[in-house]
Amino acid sequence: MKALVLSGGTGSRLRPITYSMPKQLIPIAGKPVLRHVLENIRELGVMDIGIVTGARDRHITAALGDGSDLGVRLTYLPQEQPLGLAHCVALGREFLGAEDFVLYLGDNVLPEGVGALAAEFAARRPAAQLVVQKVADPRRFGVAELDAGGAVVRVTEKPDRPRSDLALVGVYFFTAAVHRAVAAIAPGPRGELEITDAVQWLITAGAEVRAGEYGGFWRDTGRVEDVLACNRRLLEGIRPAVAGTVDAASRLTGPVVVEAGARVTGSRIEGPALIGAGTVVEDSRIGPYTSLGRDCVLRRAGLEDSVTLDGVTIDRVGGLYGSLIGRAARIGPGDGRRRLVVGDDCRVEVAA
Ligand code: DAU
Repeated sequence: MKALVLSGGTGSRLRPITYSMPKQLIPIAGKPVLRHVLENIRELGVMDIGIVTGARDRHITAALGDGSDLGVRLTYLPQEQPLGLAHCVALGREFLGAEDFVLYLGDNVLPEGVGALAAEFAARRPAAQLVVQKVADPRRFGVAELDAGGAVVRVTEKPDRPRSDLALVGVYFFTAAVHRAVAAIAPGPRGELEITDAVQWLITAGAEVRAGEYGGFWRDTGRVEDVLACNRRLLEGIRPAVAGTVDAASRLTGPVVVEAGARVTGSRIEGPALIGAGTVVEDSRIGPYTSLGRDCVLRRAGLEDSVTLDGVTIDRVGGLYGSLIGRAARIGPGDGRRRLVVGDDCRVEVAA
């Protein structure tokens, strides 16, 4: 079995962060989403992984290299334009050959892994084995209708009026039968070659398409609130470790990771929390559920349920929560009045 991981696309719902980096590299509990994805695939015993990349491909190749530090072999498949998930499968046709494969969307987080579902696929080898989960608002997802035996009778991409509450999780197992389906379909209403349409083509052609319900945690990190939810979930599993320095005036409660070269003084860190390498935290209150990137500086700051990327400075601003703060952003009092220098599509919420 091989794997095809999709890391192109535009990431428009995560602007402005995605103006300068692909959403699949946003750190969740200190590690890019894509690394979590590759680790899950490696757990399946799959080592040959094709990665579809988009406009920001050099960020991804710089972060992952040839995959050897993860113990996998990566083959990069550049996609010139985000023409759809089925287009990505067509692009991977030569890499995949006649093998079974798992199609894994590079922005999907499933901390408990997908081993049981892979085993189910391997035992029966239907043309397609989908993964579904009940969601409150299925209109944001592909939606599957199943019969009592777990066979899929219909799939629809982001329907206005969903006929079930089962969303398609971004992990699909296929035999090579999917390539005929991909070659047969036309772009859908949003102009993309939809993988949902390829699956529907298989169902209509009489091929076996099955679905397994996923009971674990699953989020697609398409929006800020989802990034934060994933960060909370993954931080819950961290093992406390202090490689940096923490002075006697500081107090750490709950699971806290202080990476090498980080320095915490006069602060209270409430776990789960992660302080990235080289970051300085002084007279601050951090956490719970907060990940700080590398080389940040926080002085008399208060930050909860948040993620900062690398090189962020927060100076004398407390009470921050639910925030995603991009690389090298600076937040502080300046000359004491309110002044903003914010990029396109930023979101600033301040008390009126
Ligand atoms: O997350 C689950 C959902 O993912 C499913 O329920 C939907 O059926 C499926 O279509 C997909 O919907 P999204 O709208 O969330 O897909 P998105 O455009 O975010 O793309 C998913 C991943 O694939 C993301 O990592 C970007 C990448 N991608 C996307 C497109 C359209 C590519 O690499 N190339 C592309 O052309």
